[in-house]
This record gives sequence, C-alpha cells and structure tokens, in this order.
Amino acid sequence: MTAPAPSRAAEILSRPAHINGLTVPNRIVMAPMTRNFSPGGVPGADVASYYSRRAAAGVGLIVTEGTYVGHESAGSSDSVPRFHGEEQLAGWAKVAEQVHAAGGTIVPQLWHIGMVREQGEPPYADAPAVGPSGIRLGTDEPTGRAMTQRDLDDVIGAFAEAAAAAERIGFDGVELHGAHGYLLDQFLWSGTNRRTDAYGGDPVARTKFAAEIVAAVRETVSAEFPIIFRYSQWKQEAYRARLAETPEELEAILAPLAAAGVDAFHASTRRYWLPEFDGSDLNLAGWTKKLTGRTTITVGSVGLDGDFIRGFMGEGSPVKAIDDLLDALEREEYDLVAVGRALLQDPQWAAKVLAGRFDELAPYDASALKSLS
Ligand SMILES: Cc1cc2nc3c(=O)[nH]c(=O)nc-3n(C[C@H](O)[C@H](O)[C@H](O)COP(=O)(O)O)c2cc1C
Repeated sequence: MTAPAPSRAAEILSRPAHINGLTVPNRIVMAPMTRNFSPGGVPGADVASYYSRRAAAGVGLIVTEGTYVGHESAGSSDSVPRFHGEEQLAGWAKVAEQVHAAGGTIVPQLWHIGMVREQGEPPYADAPAVGPSGIRLGTDEPTGRAMTQRDLDDVIGAFAEAAAAAERIGFDGVELHGAHGYLLDQFLWSGTNRRTDAYGGDPVARTKFAAEIVAAVRETVSAEFPIIFRYSQWKQEAYRARLAETPEELEAILAPLAAAGVDAFHASTRRYWLPEFDGSDLNLAGWTKKLTGRTTITVGSVGLDGDFIRGFMGEGSPVKAIDDLLDALEREEYDLVAVGRALLQDPQWAAKVLAGRFDELAPYDASALKSLS
C-alpha cells in the first residue's frame, strides 16, 4: 500500500533550514511567548515538559519565552525565567536537554525590558528603570534613567554573558529580543530614543547599541553558533509605530546588525500576509531577506482562527493566505514560519499540520493562557 501524498503545506514545511551552523529539521518555529510560570526565575520541570511536548510533536525550532539577562533593571516579574544564576541556568539546561531528546532545537530569547519597567517591581525592586532617554513611550516626563556609558557597557556585558551561558549549557543559538518596544527597540525607535550622543539621531546611530550587543555576543560565542535578532515595527504600547517608513530606512537599521554578526532575522508582524511598503507584496520578513540576504523568520496570525484552518483544508477564501505563505517559502522570500498562539492552544499543532490532519486543528481560545499544558 502506498502512503498518501503529503499535502503541499506538509511537503514545504517539512524541509530543513539552516541558520549558521544549525540545521533546523523543518520550517516550523515556536514563537517566543512569556508565560510567567517560573517562580524565582527558575524554569522547572513543567516548563521543560511544555517545550519538549511541542518539540516531540514536530516543532523544528523553539524560541523560548523572553528570559531576563543578568542586569538588575532587565525585568519586572519574579515569575519570568532569568538567564543567569546557578539554579536558573540549571533549570534551563534541563529544558534544552529535554527538547533535544524530543528531536527539536531550541534558543533562549534574551530580554531586557528597559523603560517598560517601573522602579519597585521585582525581581530587583530597588533597581531603576533605564533606557535610551529615561522616558517611557507616550510620556515626555522621565520615569527612569537615561543610560550612562557604564549602563550601556553593563547591559552589553549581560547579553554577552547570557549568550555564553546558552552555548555552555547546550542551547542551539540565541535570539536577541529587539522588538515590541523593549530596551533594544527603545534605542532603535526615534519615539523613545532622544539621545544626542553617538547612540541617537539617524537610524544608523540608533542601531549602534543593538549592533554593539550583537558584536559582543558574536565575539563571545563560537563562530558557528547562531545569533537570531528579533525586531518589529510595532510596539506593545503603539501598534501603529514604525521604525522604518521606506526600504532604505529599514536597510539603514538592518545592515549594521547583519554586519555585526546576526545570522537570522525574526521579523515580527501581527499579520504575516500584509505587504510592508507600497509597491511590493513583500512582507517585513521578505524585505528583511531581500535587504540583508540573511535567513528570515516570518510570524503573525498563522493558524489562529477557523478560517485559516479551513484554508489549510482547501475550503474557503483564506486558501489564498495559506497559498501565499507556501508560495513565499518556495520563492525563498523568507525561510521559516513562527507560530505563537496556535501552538499555545495545541501542543500537537505541528504534528497535525505535518501529517495533513488539518481537520483536527482547533481555533485559538485565550483560556489556553491559563495553564502550561
Ligand atoms: C502570551 C504571549 C506572550 C508573548 N511573549 C512574547 C515574548 O516574550 N517575546 C516576544 O518577542 N514576543 C512575544 N509574544 C509575541 C509572539 O511571539 C508572536 O509574535 C505573536 O503572538 C504573533 O504570533 P501569533 O499570531 O502566531 O500568535 C507573545 C505573544 C503572546 C500571545
């Protein structure tokens, strides 16, 4: 008896991809999602099972939830995992080990929230909020400290140390969180970066801090160890914000990051099918690949609702959206597809998609956030 022909989606998504020295077994990436289930910043056995369950079901690359680098002002929660400290790293080592045992690959998403923090918040209540200009998006009143050269050096060192730890304890690479209005993005965006020194001004100057972090990480880890950089136009507190209005502006930001050692860009959008700039169908990941030649990951509402699922099954108008995604992968406009909420909802999502069992997919329901299933 011959096996049934795989669906086009399964066939295309099953192809391996490469990020520097890493081979990702297929094109499906778990998007980073903060879960707040790591008391004391320690990812426990439940966190390891949560990720390894998804790896066992065929997710090729897991990007962990954002995890704080070792700087006192990096975070604002005691239940977000930290990527420093003996107990915390021992917990992470088990996460990586279990994901590997399940056949997956995994990178931690290294995170500093910058001015999104308020003084008094855990894990280090006395630490001030720090950012490029000490202001929080939407306010002109300082609510924290404009970073001094010492602050910049400390944070660069914290990212480099976390990346070194990631390699040492068995992770397959790192993702630097440069998106959504957190510290690195606060530098990239003129709305939050009002500096008049070498770290502020035009897009290249605003990219300097992030590029220095990339360079420090690159210097610290092995040459083949993948560095992924996640960035976005939109901010958590400003969905319509844009870093770049034109491909030229985008190139001014991405080129120094690529030159500093980024192997892959994770271009975060809320809807992957939307063109980024007038006059082209390319989305943000498509433009990123065109401008940098680097491996790129697209993301945004893949598999979220019933319409999309019916599209997978070949019914209804959303077919076009899915065909567009598969066509773009085939044309190598981007290389990998990150899936967030659909994978929160259903740990078996990748297995179902890769086996063509689309009729078993369920729409996303926010109650999935309540547990670490
Ligand atoms: C509960 C939740 C937590 C998230 N946490 C993070 C995070 O820690 N870091 C990050 O870069 N993005 C985070 N995101 C954004 C996701 O990575 C992803 O880009 C977004 O959900 C869009 O993908 P989706 O439509 O497939 O869910 C989070 C999203 C959700 C729903």
